[in-house]
Amino acid sequence: MACGLFYCQHDAKDQRELVNYHCMKKRFPLFVLVFVWLMMAVRLDAQPERPIVVQVDRPISVIQPTMWGIFFEDINFAADGGIYAELVKNRSFEFAKPLMGWKVLKKDATEGVLILNRGESNVTNPRFVRITRPNMEEKFGLENEGFRGMGIKTGLTYHFSLLARNPEGKPLKIRIELVNASGEVIGTASMAPESAEWKRYTVSFSATATESKAKMNIWFEGIGSLDLDMISLFPDDTWKNRPGGLRADLVQMLANLKPGFIRFPGGCIVEGFELATRYQWKKTIGSVDERQTSINRWNTEFKHRPAPDYYQSFGMGFFEYFQLAEDLGAEPLPILSCGMACQFNSAEVAPLDQLEPYIRDAMDLIEFANGSADTKWGKVRVQMGHPAPFNLKMIGIGNEQWGSQYIERYEAFAKMIKGKYPEMKLVSGTGPSPDGKFFDLASKELTRLHAEIVDEHYYANPEWFLQNATRYDSYDRKNYKIFAGEYAAQSKSGANPENKNNWKCAISEAAFMTGLERNADVVSLCSYAPLFAHVDAWQWTPDLIWFDNLTSFGTPNYYVQKMFSINKGSHILPILAGNQPLTGQNGLYASAALDQNTNEIILKLVNTSHSELNENITLDVKKRINPKGKLTVLKSESPEAVNSIEQPMLIYPVEQNFSVRGKSVHAVLQPNSFSVYRIKLVN
Ligand code: AHR
Repeated sequence: MACGLFYCQHDAKDQRELVNYHCMKKRFPLFVLVFVWLMMAVRLDAQPERPIVVQVDRPISVIQPTMWGIFFEDINFAADGGIYAELVKNRSFEFAKPLMGWKVLKKDATEGVLILNRGESNVTNPRFVRITRPNMEEKFGLENEGFRGMGIKTGLTYHFSLLARNPEGKPLKIRIELVNASGEVIGTASMAPESAEWKRYTVSFSATATESKAKMNIWFEGIGSLDLDMISLFPDDTWKNRPGGLRADLVQMLANLKPGFIRFPGGCIVEGFELATRYQWKKTIGSVDERQTSINRWNTEFKHRPAPDYYQSFGMGFFEYFQLAEDLGAEPLPILSCGMACQFNSAEVAPLDQLEPYIRDAMDLIEFANGSADTKWGKVRVQMGHPAPFNLKMIGIGNEQWGSQYIERYEAFAKMIKGKYPEMKLVSGTGPSPDGKFFDLASKELTRLHAEIVDEHYYANPEWFLQNATRYDSYDRKNYKIFAGEYAAQSKSGANPENKNNWKCAISEAAFMTGLERNADVVSLCSYAPLFAHVDAWQWTPDLIWFDNLTSFGTPNYYVQKMFSINKGSHILPILAGNQPLTGQNGLYASAALDQNTNEIILKLVNTSHSELNENITLDVKKRINPKGKLTVLKSESPEAVNSIEQPMLIYPVEQNFSVRGKSVHAVLQPNSFSVYRIKLVN
């Protein structure tokens, strides 16, 4: 065995021993040193000399069904241009520049196109476009560029719709064309709006080719004028085929995670740059025509990744969110403004004596989710097509706030909400950092206030994740439960565009997550953040799932999340080496669970070292064991390796069978790998 390998396999204590060894060399004859070295080498080859034992009959605590969830924020074009399947950008001309995303197809683009503003008579959707074509001399059209193009699939049906009126009643026809990147037509349809009053017109047609960067042209043929608004194009293959719904492939990626909860809508987007632009759920429900478009706060956040065309149509609003959570069998966890704008931006706060509208919003959301048809907001939900309650059980107060201002505001919210809804679990937060002055203040004060679930955020380098695998081993069990509400290992630091979803980051998260799972008696919810990123339109990295206009792929981090989530189990089991939890000895991190529903033992073993580890794991259990088990391995030889649109499965979990020998498992853990063993108990 090479000395270099010997060195890198050992922790700090072993490194000290190696230094001592070099000192000893001076004092002992060579043959003694060779003998000692050989003995040590034999010891390493014959791993393990520390038996690993899983105490199957001594479950420590229940693992909450909510343990592994997802964090959804409209960042990186996650909603508009992402999961919300609308293909037309700026469909209602409400962006600051009303024609952003549109191009006038005409020699003299200054004539014939007028943006009108209805002002007070329609405050939620004031603008529309008036097209006037006085003669047939030249071609006249509008082109929409989509969200960095439109993803179009051959043979698929597309539904085009708009609101229109034809005040003069002249025969001005509309011809819709989808064109590919070379300008060739790959789908066409037409309609003739005739009504003098606003009316919705729809037409469906099939695409004849696949294209990820298509555009849509609307040609005006004939003479006359038309007023147009809410110009929309949806694919037919939305999630559950809901008209105007969500992109099915992206929802499927979420469904495959079997999430325990969905945090929504963020993230800083909850808070707003200033209070006026905070996320207000009431503006995101009802007819999409009346959901007021708002600038997305990530539009202007980073100079290194400007996104001037990033707005929120709220097509995926709070109703769709609750519906998605229901579809996925996940608990909804809405996070609401607590009257504090983003403290990295304006840091505006609503005075304590003017918090009422903010608290009212939270109370009304509970009524919208759970109230009966005879309550004001319950009735709105019923009218939107969901008579049954959404069974909201938790609600978050503020996103990533810090300081005494937060504590005061949380206290006011808690008093009011608990007064009316004592069974509602409240989620509070400790700010952006997992330690330091503000973290300590929040922990102390939230303990004093008997907070129930407290959100902690960790964005840090992979080494932090390895070192913090023991973070919760010594947390106080008498106080609140932990929501690891936002975390991601960063290959660079902070909001750096060079951050990569590489294997080094993903495996460090896996190691850390064994610590979350081992402490599932105190950690009850966890979510990686952010969730989605469009490959051409992102602002923040790293992100769990990347997509273009046609496809998507899971990062190595996604597969780590998935392997934890779908192998959750119902109870934590002790997994010990010499009476110690496995928290990095020889680079090995581990957790174990029992699934009482399937009668299986689940072992999660993360080998972060560059060497293969051979471990004999004794299953201390009375029941018999099925000799055939299932093993899933996620690994890469390169710490820098990433998945991509071109190589979506470069790092991908591979399943195989393995044999259990009596009541022990011989685990051959490949270098830099994450392995999940499922072992069936026989009654
Ligand atoms: O996940 C990205 C951002 O990180 C979130 O919006 C915010 O809560 C955190 O600072």
